[in-house]
Amino acid sequence: MDLAADLPADLAAALDAATADIPLRELEASVDRLIARYRTPGRADRPILAGRIDAAAYAAYRMPATWGAVRAALAAAAARVPDLAPQSLVDVGGGTGAAAWAAAAVFGESLKDITVLDQVPEALELGRGLARDAFSGALRHAEWRQVRFPAEVPGADLVTVSYVLSELAPDAQQALVGTSAKNAQTIAVIEPGTPDGYQRIMAARDVLVGMGLHVAAPCPHSDACPLLGTRDWCHFASRIHRSPLHRRLKGADLQYEDEKFAYVVATRLPVAEAQAQARILRHPQIRKGLVMMQLCKPDGTVAQELVSKRQGDTYRAARDADWGDSW
Ligand SMILES: C[S@@+](CC[C@H](N)C(=O)[O-])C[C@H]1O[C@@H](n2cnc3c(N)ncnc32)[C@H](O)[C@@H]1O
Repeated sequence: MDLAADLPADLAAALDAATADIPLRELEASVDRLIARYRTPGRADRPILAGRIDAAAYAAYRMPATWGAVRAALAAAAARVPDLAPQSLVDVGGGTGAAAWAAAAVFGESLKDITVLDQVPEALELGRGLARDAFSGALRHAEWRQVRFPAEVPGADLVTVSYVLSELAPDAQQALVGTSAKNAQTIAVIEPGTPDGYQRIMAARDVLVGMGLHVAAPCPHSDACPLLGTRDWCHFASRIHRSPLHRRLKGADLQYEDEKFAYVVATRLPVAEAQAQARILRHPQIRKGLVMMQLCKPDGTVAQELVSKRQGDTYRAARDADWGDSW
């Protein structure tokens, strides 16, 4: 998995411009409130993003990270589904459009038609503004539609449900996944890479497999997850370079942040058999002459694999492999 990515230049410039006229103090206060709220996932009876400043604060401090997570998830699925070249995208609970930007980054010109659905008009308005000068024509012409779920989700080649489920009650989460998948050729569900985010992804995966979709990524099979019932959980990380505003808002010195995320991409398209390789579940550990990898394997098990220097090309490939890659 390509873990590190820079925000597209057009998105980075749009984020800077959209926050330029808001006093830093107001953005910081909003970021502090949003961080506290997102740390305690649970049903939101009222929209968490309350107005223009919150939408701008979300875009500045969270959108780069959620963009990176969705981009990595879609890229992993594209590597396993040769026919995945969506022309239409519906972004469910899309907010300011992070997943739409990620899909445009992964699928480029194939993507023609984007619809973003969300309950918060200020988030949609900001998203429309950010996309106004996007390089992607699909983003520039996207439709930003106010919808409060439960509601019908239009059919599309690709449906994204990114960082939305934690705001819903468990039965509403499963209903939203089912409605979103009903007329989708491929669906990607992404959540924070915490144990409870993983549990929500597992519940979503059950719904999708129950509807007859095949898991494209991260799992190399559609059987039960071998980590269920263990103390481990399946999650990945995407590294995003921070802009100066982002560093100020987060009070952070580091030039980058690692966004941990859990995800499932399921599809009605054929999943390449030849691509049914194992998935690397942790940073490989490199010792002298030895690479140790924890793998989720196509036979439905998790196993440690040791690759030694004596294995030549395989060893060199293992040294280059990363957490989240196929193996
Ligand atoms: C954490 S934000 C994620 C935004 C975006 N998908 C991303 O990945 O950055 C959650 C979004 O889900 C939306 N949302 C939550 N519950 C919703 C509902 N019942 N109907 C419509 N939108 C909802 C919120 O308004 C918010 O924009």
